[in-house]
Amino acid sequence: MPQKDVKIAPSILSADFSILGEEVAAIDKAGADYIHIDVMDGHFVPNLTFGAPVVKAIRKATQKTFDVHLMIAPVDPLIGDFVDAGADIITAHVEAGPHLHRTLQAIKGHGVKAGVSLNPHTPIESIQHVMDMVDLILIMTVNPGFGGQSFIPLTDKIAKARAMIEQSDRAIDLQVDGGVNPQTAKECIAAGADVLVAGTSVFKDGPEAYAVNIKALRG
Ligand code: DX5
Ligand code: ZN
Repeated sequence: MPQKDVKIAPSILSADFSILGEEVAAIDKAGADYIHIDVMDGHFVPNLTFGAPVVKAIRKATQKTFDVHLMIAPVDPLIGDFVDAGADIITAHVEAGPHLHRTLQAIKGHGVKAGVSLNPHTPIESIQHVMDMVDLILIMTVNPGFGGQSFIPLTDKIAKARAMIEQSDRAIDLQVDGGVNPQTAKECIAAGADVLVAGTSVFKDGPEAYAVNIKALRG
């Protein structure tokens, strides 16, 4: 069932890194709900972005929720650094290590919200025994590592995740990340997603277009 209030989480991976603070302030002003921060380690994924010091630097630019998507392995040793830098939600990948339960305990232990992300091939059932610990489920609709890729239509997986959330009777965000544009956003919302991550489709055409771009994703 489509969700009523869809949140938009622009991915700053597509921002102009030379003026990152200004870009974050601009998407805040344009109506972003969360600021999605893609951390890549060149090991878990074949690309490298930024670490906790950059997150701390941009924390000054906005009060909005910092939604930190960790594409790193191992995860646990760096959780504290990202919390100290100002993360509100920390999302780790199911595939990043053998001890997801321990990672979620560590995130919760730091007093922030815990998210869990699944690569396209990973069955949604892999998280059924940690549903009581998660505050956010992130369904990857591209292979993580790069912006600007094409959407992989995993709407049945999104719908299954929505059903699991309804059954859990807990407030869990259902986030979709990768190739989200105004067309694919509709499919995600119809399948039950309520937080849409978008890099390319938010940051295209420069700051004057950000508000229109964000609005176009809300369906
Ligand atoms: C991919 C990242 C995404 C990415 C989305 O690994 O997790 O957040 O920035 O970019 P677009 O919206 O361009 O697919
Ligand atoms: Zn992401």
